[in-house]
Amino acid sequence: MDVRTFIAENLHLRPAPGVPEIRLYTAHPGSGLARLRTDAPEDLPPYWAYSWAGGILLAKHLFRDPDIVRGRRVLDLGAGSGIVGIAARKCGASSVIATEIDANAIAAIDLNAAANNVTIEVLETDILSGDRAPNVDIILAGDVFYDAELAGRVLPFLAACLSAGVEVLIGDPRRRSLPLASLRLIAEYAVPDFGDGGAQSVTGGVFTLEA
Ligand SMILES: C[S@@+](CC[C@H](N)C(=O)[O-])C[C@H]1O[C@@H](n2cnc3c(N)ncnc32)[C@H](O)[C@@H]1O
Repeated sequence: MDVRTFIAENLHLRPAPGVPEIRLYTAHPGSGLARLRTDAPEDLPPYWAYSWAGGILLAKHLFRDPDIVRGRRVLDLGAGSGIVGIAARKCGASSVIATEIDANAIAAIDLNAAANNVTIEVLETDILSGDRAPNVDIILAGDVFYDAELAGRVLPFLAACLSAGVEVLIGDPRRRSLPLASLRLIAEYAVPDFGDGGAQSVTGGVFTLEA
């Protein structure tokens, strides 16, 4: 079955937890997600089907302070469901590029963007391997420090983008591989999190990357 059809028929379109301004196709016990295969190089779990604290933190922060993105070109790194990019667009970003390595996430971002009446350019690419900073004003990175190997690639990429003049904002519930020594906390919120295995509330942060 086509991925888009599968998502539309088997996931529920629901308000994002903690960010009622956005609706997302969300997995539930009857979704049967295991029936979906991924073309990604590794066996990626369906991150895109759930709401992660990092993305919720950034989306919440943008709705509190839309000037962060208003009229600016945004890159949503590791977009998952697309919650961060959708929030940016709703808050007035002039353009949003969402990058993902999971083909199923690409389909979900397209559907979620349409469900929220926004347009997002979706790129299925491992942007971390590129040697040039993307042509954007700000990078939003929600919950991309969930494992040490990925964190070891994300930090130098973001640092290079910062050196090239691109602002960087990170949303994260302080997962183990978050490079706190390189970050400055600018806001804190209590948000729901799926990432640690349940729907419990965690206090997480929005951080800038320091030069
Ligand atoms: C924990 S999820 C967070 C998704 C979303 N930002 C949020 O907060 O809801 C991390 C996402 O990063 C994606 N990812 C992992 N490595 C990536 C890479 N090299 N480039 C782009 N996305 C990547 C994964 O496929 C996954 O969807």
